[in-house]
Amino acid sequence: MSDGGTVRILGIAGSLRRGSFNAATLRTAQELAPAGMTIDIFDIAPIPVYNEDVRQQGFPAPVEDLRTRIKSADGLLIVTPEYNYSIPGVLKNAIDWASRPPEQPFDGKPVGIMGASAGAMGTGRAQYHLRQCFVFLNGHVMNRPEVMIPAAQNKFDANGKLTDQPTRDFMTAHLTAFKAWVLRMK
Ligand SMILES: Cc1cc2nc3c(=O)[nH]c(=O)nc-3n(C[C@H](O)[C@H](O)[C@H](O)COP(=O)(O)O)c2cc1C
Repeated sequence: MSDGGTVRILGIAGSLRRGSFNAATLRTAQELAPAGMTIDIFDIAPIPVYNEDVRQQGFPAPVEDLRTRIKSADGLLIVTPEYNYSIPGVLKNAIDWASRPPEQPFDGKPVGIMGASAGAMGTGRAQYHLRQCFVFLNGHVMNRPEVMIPAAQNKFDANGKLTDQPTRDFMTAHLTAFKAWVLRMK
């Protein structure tokens, strides 16, 4: 809250796909963020595949950038698909890189999770696996309201705009609660 009141959130989408519903959901979150909350988006595409031998030489620049931006954010918003009932590899890979010592940046960080899937479960299984990772990393994931968007292909228009009003409403409820959660964790 460097400017004296605004809650600064770092948003990460767990899909690299150009037409990703999750990236579109994250952009919608930017649009629906309450007054006093901003969401900057970090693109995980440049993060290399984790290799401990590489880490021994130092963090690659995109990883260093991610770690710095997580540290300086007041909270994290992760918007992820579900792959095979779990966390997509690209997202888990980014978290694994960022989590390595020293000073792992998730420690004590407020975290919000949303997800959109083609299936009926709206990424619930991936979200609970993500929550499990944050137990170890000591990120403070907000319990509820949860945002699980099923049948995403029916809820966005061709330009990636979220047109489903009930979904926009529960995203707004989540973001309002998340702002309060971040302030409470401070
Ligand atoms: C490798 C892979 C595994 C998937 N597994 C699941 C799954 O377990 N549950 C589900 O609801 N959808 C699954 N899907 C479908 C995704 O929900 C769908 O592709 C969705 O659009 C991905 O999110 P995105 O639009 O942000 O890329 C899977 C897709 C891929 C590519």
